[in-house]
Amino acid sequence: MQDDAYLKCINPQCGLEYSIESTNVQCEKGHMLDVKYKKTPSVNLKEVFYKRRNSEGSIFNESGVWRFRELLNFCQIDTENIEECSRYLVSLDGAEGRQSKPYRMSKAAEFINISNDDLWLQPEGYNPSGSFKDNGMATAVTHAKMIGAKKIVCASTGNTSASAGMFAANEGINCDVYIPAGQIAPGKLSQAYQFGAQIVEVNGNFDDALKESLDDAKNHDGYTVNSINPFRIEGQKTIPFRALEYLNWESPDWIVYPGGALGNTSSCGKALMELYEWGWIKKIPRIAVINSEGASTLSDLYNGKFEGEELRWNKGNPNTELISRYYNHLDKEGLKPKTKATAIQIGRPANILKGLRALEFTNGVVTTVSDSEMLDGMSVVGLNGFDCEMASGASVVGIKKLIIEEIIKKDDVVIGILTGRQKDAMLPVDYHNNPENKFAIPPRN
Ligand code: F0G
Repeated sequence: MQDDAYLKCINPQCGLEYSIESTNVQCEKGHMLDVKYKKTPSVNLKEVFYKRRNSEGSIFNESGVWRFRELLNFCQIDTENIEECSRYLVSLDGAEGRQSKPYRMSKAAEFINISNDDLWLQPEGYNPSGSFKDNGMATAVTHAKMIGAKKIVCASTGNTSASAGMFAANEGINCDVYIPAGQIAPGKLSQAYQFGAQIVEVNGNFDDALKESLDDAKNHDGYTVNSINPFRIEGQKTIPFRALEYLNWESPDWIVYPGGALGNTSSCGKALMELYEWGWIKKIPRIAVINSEGASTLSDLYNGKFEGEELRWNKGNPNTELISRYYNHLDKEGLKPKTKATAIQIGRPANILKGLRALEFTNGVVTTVSDSEMLDGMSVVGLNGFDCEMASGASVVGIKKLIIEEIIKKDDVVIGILTGRQKDAMLPVDYHNNPENKFAIPPRN
């Protein structure tokens, strides 16, 4: 194997490097890792990617992830050789990322109070397992296969477990999923069962489940597919790739995500850092992360709501003590993340440092929205004929809030990511049965 791709610690003072076959999700000193590439991909690939939309029978061109394979070629294979691609690249028959692109949604634009020409919403819920997770799972499971893993392991608020279960069943490998008992949407839970994953119920929240799953992976030879795995991040870079390609690689002013474990924020940041460094984009879009009010760790720390200090990446010198003190404070006060948007009910975002790096690079912002706002966001997306879950509604109402606060300016071009499909069947039913809700259409007798 060549060494054009390798793993590198994200801490500039440390910078330890590892071979691409390493399964470490951290360096020896406990810092997160990045996949790095030595060669600069030619800008001419933009043309190649465009042409691949006519897939000519190749599932790797059909796939919205592997269509961009030169920008995530950690397998270091000949990317034009389809046989070689089939030996290495894991795909759900080309379906991951295939249907995702930005759409106009006029009713959402009207609600947000932005010109319909300036707003794009990109549903990731039309992925095979129903969420953006399939983008990163394709690459993580590719790496798992590359190193001969027999079992993949994850903790999940639901969507990761559905995606991991689906990929594992397709690849014929085992899959253990750790879920916070009673705290995930029924549709997500049923997917994990349906795909034959081994469910492990944890008495606690997602943060507890993640801890248990990492211990299991370590002690029982499991391969972790949560977003702390740097190979997950590689696949998720294709979410902004698809958005940017659709805009002819002209950067929007903003890319907006709901914030949970911050894998999306991290991957968007890495994608933009690379594209900028490679000369593929001239302008850096700003990232906005939208936390739920009830699970607002990043917002609290970033906006100086804890001890008055605004937590920053600080060129690779973040105040990690401040984060520890915040977590101690949560423990001491018995404060648990609480939101009806269970997908983002996370108190200890595992990718917080990569998230901060992304925010620094893009001059990003972080804010919060309430549960009822997220439900309105989810519902107005529905009125445009698109499906999304409650956590994804955060992108819509987050944009609205940032426009009211004049952080997003009136003629800024904004892309909001709708991260997942509705898997909590009763949420829209309950919403529409309450006439007081903004977009409710109650049933008639
Ligand atoms: N939206 C949806 C629908 C999600 O499922 C998640 C995370 C997020 C947003 C947050 O994204 O972690 O990249 O900041 N779900 C994970 C799971 C945690 O286990 O399914 P993030």
